[in-house]
Amino acid sequence: MNNTVVVGAQWGDEGKAKITDLLAEYADVIIRYQGGCNAGHTVVVNNEKYKFHLVPSGVLYKNKFCFVAAGTVIHPETFLEETTELKNRGVDLSSLKISPLATITLPYHIDIDGISENSSGKNKIGTTKKGIGPTYSDKIGRYGLKIQDLYDEELLNSRLDAILPLKNKILEKVYGTKTYSKEEMFQYCKKYAEIFKPYVCDEWVNKLSSSLKEDKKILFEGAQGIMLDIDYGTYPFVTSSNPIGGGAATGSGIGPTHIDNVIGVTKAYVTRVGEGPFMTELLDETGEKIRTIGGEFGTTTGRPRRCGWFDAVLSRYCVLVGGLTEMAITKLDVLDTFDELKVCNAYRDKRNGKIYNDYPTNINLHKYLEPVYETLKGWKTDISNAKSLNDLPENARKYLNRLEELVGIPIKIISVGADREQTIVLENPFK
Ligand code: GDP
Ligand code: IMO
Ligand code: MG
Repeated sequence: MNNTVVVGAQWGDEGKAKITDLLAEYADVIIRYQGGCNAGHTVVVNNEKYKFHLVPSGVLYKNKFCFVAAGTVIHPETFLEETTELKNRGVDLSSLKISPLATITLPYHIDIDGISENSSGKNKIGTTKKGIGPTYSDKIGRYGLKIQDLYDEELLNSRLDAILPLKNKILEKVYGTKTYSKEEMFQYCKKYAEIFKPYVCDEWVNKLSSSLKEDKKILFEGAQGIMLDIDYGTYPFVTSSNPIGGGAATGSGIGPTHIDNVIGVTKAYVTRVGEGPFMTELLDETGEKIRTIGGEFGTTTGRPRRCGWFDAVLSRYCVLVGGLTEMAITKLDVLDTFDELKVCNAYRDKRNGKIYNDYPTNINLHKYLEPVYETLKGWKTDISNAKSLNDLPENARKYLNRLEELVGIPIKIISVGADREQTIVLENPFK
């Protein structure tokens, strides 16, 4: 058994999709377990770019069971657009399935997210405005609608009766926005019931149990990143799900005893999109240089990503809360032209010099802290064609070795470009 979870081990956009696609070749089952269309997952194969939001990034291979599991929230329009585009590009979606237990992002979730963000001024979270927080709030508050609710008219009627009167009051009186009639929502649900129908996997329990019994290789694809986790991230500047490794168990319906490896996908530097603390952020031309070379603009929203040096304090925290067994370091090539590289190994309190080696989870403290850096030499060589560790210049190898030492877990995959081929795999969990 080598079931493997791919998680983002920073603030999202680490290159999870690239790593998922790479490993999916050797997997039988690929499960997207949390998040919704806030995710923007890019896969590049022979210069062809695919952008996934809800569909697992393993779908480009034929005959793999690709499952969008119960922990996800599904926005119907995005699902329709994404699957239509993939089909138009010739991708076979016959093995793509969604869980009847997944929660639906409804139009008013998007309305509420947009209004909340636009009216929060300097207190905004910087969400993707894709209705994620409101959908998960309703799920936890038991006001959500599940995919399976769409297929029983009586149940759907009673769910809408339970949900809409209160929701409409809130929409009108709190948010000052439009309400939704029961008939309108009923028709909306009927429309998407038809669209979802070929994908809904009512026999998912049998499918996953037999996959485990037959020792099939299961790959779990996380969305967002550990530092955006609702419980362990930089709250309130987080998403509303659990991107940590443990989220794979709750989100997929496959318990933790069936998980063997958790790969933390980590950029060779750090980025963040949206508001919230970021200890190693570079607000100068070095940050601008990383953004330009790295193409650091959001896949879902197009927003510029904030950029900074590698933060080993943050990574060590991710090893603990994410249950990471190894790292995949991505975008190493983006650092090719730098004379020197900094790596943060501790935070220092500016008031009294106190050193923090462990990530301080009270983010209210962060304004008093500054990063403590060590400096490493750059390699000043184009590494985008490197195929093995030996092809990397000595300083690049030293940089990676130092990251391993500081973080305390091995690096098993190194990515040197966006394309599937531009990867050095030191150890593949499925081989
Ligand atoms: P995800 O959300 O974690 O799947 O990551 P995104 O797709 O949002 O962002 C990662 C971006 O970096 C995408 O544009 C990828 O094509 C690109 N990318 C991934 N790995 C590498 C790499 O090693 N080098 C470079 N230059 N680009 C990469
Ligand atoms: P992938 O899967 C990067 C960020 C948003 C915002 C916060 C809350 O592509 O790595 P939300 O819309 O989830 O309520 O926004 O989380 N965020 C992401 N940042 N990558 C993502 O997904 C993200 N999904 C959400 O920018 O700061
Ligand atoms: Mg992304």
